[in-house]
Amino acid sequence: MKISFARSPSATKSTRADTAAAFVFRKTKLSAGAEALDKLCGGALRDYLKTQDKFTGAAGQSVKITLPKGAAYKRVLLLGLDDPAKISSATAEVAGGRLHASLSAIDAHKVDIFMAGTESDEVTATSAAAHIGAGLMLRSYRFDHYKSKKPENGGSHLKSATLIGPGESTARRIFATLDAGARGTFFARDLSNEPPNVLYPDSFAKRVKKELEPLGVKVRIIDDKKMKELGFRTHLAVGQGSARPPCVVIFEWNGLPATSSKKVKPLAFVGKGVTFDTGGISIKPSGGMDEMKHDMSGAAAVAGLFMTLARRKAKVKAVGICGLAENMPDGKAYRPGDIIKSMSGKTVEILNTDAEGRLVLIDSLTYIQRIYDPRLIIDLATLTGAVVVALGHEFAGAFVNDDKLWSQLNDAGTKTGERLWRLPLDATYRKQVESHVADIRNTGTIDRAGGSCTGAAFLQHVIDEGRIWSHLDIAGTAWLKGGSAVSPRDATGFGVRLLDRLVADHYE
Ligand code: BES
Ligand code: ZN
Ligand code: ZN
Repeated sequence: MKISFARSPSATKSTRADTAAAFVFRKTKLSAGAEALDKLCGGALRDYLKTQDKFTGAAGQSVKITLPKGAAYKRVLLLGLDDPAKISSATAEVAGGRLHASLSAIDAHKVDIFMAGTESDEVTATSAAAHIGAGLMLRSYRFDHYKSKKPENGGSHLKSATLIGPGESTARRIFATLDAGARGTFFARDLSNEPPNVLYPDSFAKRVKKELEPLGVKVRIIDDKKMKELGFRTHLAVGQGSARPPCVVIFEWNGLPATSSKKVKPLAFVGKGVTFDTGGISIKPSGGMDEMKHDMSGAAAVAGLFMTLARRKAKVKAVGICGLAENMPDGKAYRPGDIIKSMSGKTVEILNTDAEGRLVLIDSLTYIQRIYDPRLIIDLATLTGAVVVALGHEFAGAFVNDDKLWSQLNDAGTKTGERLWRLPLDATYRKQVESHVADIRNTGTIDRAGGSCTGAAFLQHVIDEGRIWSHLDIAGTAWLKGGSAVSPRDATGFGVRLLDRLVADHYE
């Protein structure tokens, strides 16, 4: 999908788009762009709107108007944008995504989108236009390279969009940074959507190294032999039932000038990368188990984030770590009842081999704190089914031990539409994961009660006193069977744009 920006539509008919699109506010009030388009079409939009009362300009509504032969365009698509004062970066992206869906449905190939020209406290008109472009881009993602015959028109003929209106050079500049976010998101989606016979710990590591090193990210792979030496023992236990050995990938991005960067502590991002989660000996029911190929979405988001930071040359020092393993039942697999000493020194009693993500994460969390002494840590993990019960697919669960970081994360979530809801970290949950035979146990003691909170509490057992840390449970948001306005079905790449925005707004 090619997105460009221009002050006015192409003057030559042969290069002119086949379709025009514009925005209408509630009570069929035309936006500035729709006014301009109406003029260009000899009043056809106003004339049409008078003949009907279904399309009112409410959010999400759309209508196609076929223009007569010889008109400026073959057809016009109007999209409802509701209240102009309520425009935000997130609603603009949703509008862009919906626009992509509607344009695909009416077989548009090349489209001129007349900028709405509206602004609010949060976004300027040019920034809103850039976000509409980003929404189009995000929704244009496709994962079809396993189809021998690409679907008839690939689901959409839409090849290019030009956003038209004043301030086009500013909009183009803002779009360039959003485009970096979209590319990182696409990378995360690609990794997460790959089938588990293709994407496993070693192939994940090789693929991210191949993609990220040319962009200036340092990528280091720790193989299973080295992991043994370093003491990634709970992580190794999770992977020991698989024919595909576990590994760890470390990313380093330094966008600071060499003179000032030495003393700066990095931001750290940690991802759960279980490339397939069968549950192990505590095996999962077979229905829907295929979805567990996405259980590495936290690691994919970390890889996508580093792609974005590097592509937009973010002025920040950051380190990322992905703990990769496949959780399989086998003669060599770890068992319920096993006691394993984690890298932190704490011994862990295994009660359920399906609570494996936390075992992978605690070693990565320990390692990153010891080696990098980071300024803050954010981990992303498809950790618990319980968070899907609590929040559904709308919000990811956020556990944060620092109010300032929570307010920054919450703000970034609202602005990107990758929304978070804060859940409790508390001593009582930490107590619930204490074991009578070892230091800690990998499930809560009170049946399944507070499953996401005990999961977070388990991780907190290895977080240093005073270390700023957040755990994001993305089990409900990492993939969507029905997709969303800005994502087709399956992997969403959740977390990439959220954390990129956090970095851009508060740590650069
Ligand atoms: N990967 C799953 C969590 C999950 C479930 C993610 C459904 C997305 C959708 C995780 O490893 C897991 O199985 N967790 C268990 C923990 C329990 C055994 C304490 C769960 O949520 O049931
Ligand atoms: Zn599991
Ligand atoms: Zn899992």
